[in-house]
Amino acid sequence: MSILIKNGRIVTAEADYIADLYIEGEHISAIGQGLDYQADQVINASNKLVFPGGIDPHVHLDMPFMGTYSSDDYETGTRAALFGGTTMVIDFILQTQGDSLRNALNTWQQKSVGKAIGDYSYHMAVTDFNDAVAKEVVEMIEDEGITSFKTFMAYKGALMIDDGQMVQLMKVVKKHGGLVTVHATNGDMIDSLIAKHRSEGKLAPLYHYLSQPEITEAEASGRFTDMLFYTGCPGYIVHMTCEGALNAVRRATTRNQKVFVETCSQYLVLDASLYENDFEGAKWVMSPPLREKKDQTALWSGINQGLIQVVGTDHCPFMWDQKKMGEKDFSKIPNGHPAIEHRLELMFSEGVNSGKISLNKFVEVTSTNAAKIFGIYPRKGTISIGADADIVIFDPKHEHKISVDTHHMNVDYSAYEGWKLTGKCETVILRGHMAIQNEDCKLSPGFGQFIPRGKTSQTI
Ligand code: URP
Ligand code: ZN
Ligand code: ZN
Repeated sequence: MSILIKNGRIVTAEADYIADLYIEGEHISAIGQGLDYQADQVINASNKLVFPGGIDPHVHLDMPFMGTYSSDDYETGTRAALFGGTTMVIDFILQTQGDSLRNALNTWQQKSVGKAIGDYSYHMAVTDFNDAVAKEVVEMIEDEGITSFKTFMAYKGALMIDDGQMVQLMKVVKKHGGLVTVHATNGDMIDSLIAKHRSEGKLAPLYHYLSQPEITEAEASGRFTDMLFYTGCPGYIVHMTCEGALNAVRRATTRNQKVFVETCSQYLVLDASLYENDFEGAKWVMSPPLREKKDQTALWSGINQGLIQVVGTDHCPFMWDQKKMGEKDFSKIPNGHPAIEHRLELMFSEGVNSGKISLNKFVEVTSTNAAKIFGIYPRKGTISIGADADIVIFDPKHEHKISVDTHHMNVDYSAYEGWKLTGKCETVILRGHMAIQNEDCKLSPGFGQFIPRGKTSQTI
């Protein structure tokens, strides 16, 4: 199978030029002007952008959480991701406290192998650290190609580890060339605020937001950063939402420390006023919650200042009936919102078109930096000879609307209903195979491959 893409505007994190792209088998085999190759398929990409497939390093597919499961599985989730130009996702394996990492890996392999349509990898969430788990961490890095270890500073009793465990984990991970990632919010402070609000009969979704003030995230981000400094371990803060947390990382740069930061598309484009709509606000109950306009400004600036390297989604969808588990008590609303399909188009329309970020920065934060940080560059995350042919052909002028009626995620509402966007993923190619064309998914479950990962690149 070969594909020739003619006259597209090729955009990577570093470059922007008009050229042809020739794909042979699963890889990019030539880039140049006026390429004169015979191909099985020729695509005219004049007036279109051609950029590397998106990598979303923060998704939760078929994840057991808060008494239920996220409603997209590997098939529906990776298909929806492809429609939105994301050709690879990194999902989170959750260790069950008291059980092994190996058993958790087996469980996630059963969810994904033979089901995924798009490519994927796993982060391993360490929820219970001890000597036996330390050995398994090494096995994950050396034998399984799983090099990032997720930790939670919140969700006590289910996922949270304490600071002593965190430091021990960091030491092992550093020694073996991995990366520690974190949900950085102060779990104890949040739990006490939740208890206070419940005891006062304050049970609406608004109190989810009021139970997680900015300081809970700023404090934990600073503490995590300090522990990284102490151990020398590379670290990455997931789903950062606010100015205070970003400033903790900014302060760390004054002692020459580098901490990687991810924000998510929702924190850049939505704000906490959505929690004022009574139970409707449950659509946006996620942790950390949406923040203020001033935080959006800080996050966009943080991207341009190079303090934030990645924009993910934290895609964790629940059907409306699942959200209704918390109708009488905000603390029982499953946390998370659907976004896997919209990240690239939101970032293009709200970021590039509005002049907040450049096209190169768009590619950097939606694809290239995740590939570098999570050890899959340059196989993924760029357009270069020899790289996997994961390509998006994007129409920058195409106007469209987001709706539950047209999205492909397995969830019965949209968190962006009626949003008008300019710019659409028109054709998506995964490892040289046509994935999305004419609004149709051409690939079947099982096409998606597990992508083993190497060490993080510290040169971003
Ligand atoms: O609300 C969220 N974010 N749900 C998924 C779990 C997590 O904390 O990332
Ligand atoms: Zn989280
Ligand atoms: Zn998450």
